[in-house]
Amino acid sequence: MSADTPEELAGLKAAGAVVAQTLRELRKLVRPGITTKELDDAAARVFASHGAQSGPQLDYDFPGAICISVGDEAVHGIPGPRRLREGELVKLDVTAELNGFYADACRTVPVGKVKPSALKLVGAAETGLKRGMAVATAGATVNDIGVAVQAEIEGRGYSVCYALTGHGIGRRIHEEPTVYSTAQPGPSPTLTEGLVITIEPIIAAGEGDIVEDGEWLVRTADGSLSAHAEHTIVITGGAPLVLTA
Ligand code: MF3
Ligand code: CO
Ligand code: CO
Repeated sequence: MSADTPEELAGLKAAGAVVAQTLRELRKLVRPGITTKELDDAAARVFASHGAQSGPQLDYDFPGAICISVGDEAVHGIPGPRRLREGELVKLDVTAELNGFYADACRTVPVGKVKPSALKLVGAAETGLKRGMAVATAGATVNDIGVAVQAEIEGRGYSVCYALTGHGIGRRIHEEPTVYSTAQPGPSPTLTEGLVITIEPIIAAGEGDIVEDGEWLVRTADGSLSAHAEHTIVITGGAPLVLTA
């Protein structure tokens, strides 16, 4: 959507604040031994305390309040009895709906003490997101974001899971345009003031190919470790407004 009125902007900011608070709470709970279902239940409680709902449940009947993916699981992991173990990376992908507005963000959180190589991968995803946001200004194109993100990730020796993308958002989770994290051939939409999108590099330590595993889960094809960083932003004439910070 394009946030064109103060009411729309206020609604989006409120949804973004719920997502940000949920991620802050969940980060504190991540430790060896906790189950992904326990993290999901905590997210559901934060949503409920704000009168918010799970976006994945509302839009897709996803079997969880949030998506929780571990290790080589890239996206759409279903919360369950799995216990997190020291050294793993857990991706908490949180999408909330509040009063008809959606916001979406993801953090990759280390479980206990993890290898320096894993922390570097997390840093690359976060920096890739920052680079993408830095070029996301009115008058630039959607493709400028993909070019910037890809250069950052590949410059650090990692791969972008190129089939997984960011997206427009606002009144639904997934709206136009598709926001690739890689360069795309051909014409690309121009970013306009008020446009609400996510930028979300999903990256792998190995190759960028992905495979489906069941109805929801997506893994890296080579089994390599993956990291994910995502924010929902509003395009302005300058730096974007980050709704989920
Ligand atoms: N948060 C996911 C994204 O960043 C959307 C999950 S919806 C689901 O696009 F139903 F696929 F889980
Ligand atoms: Co997301
Ligand atoms: Co998203």
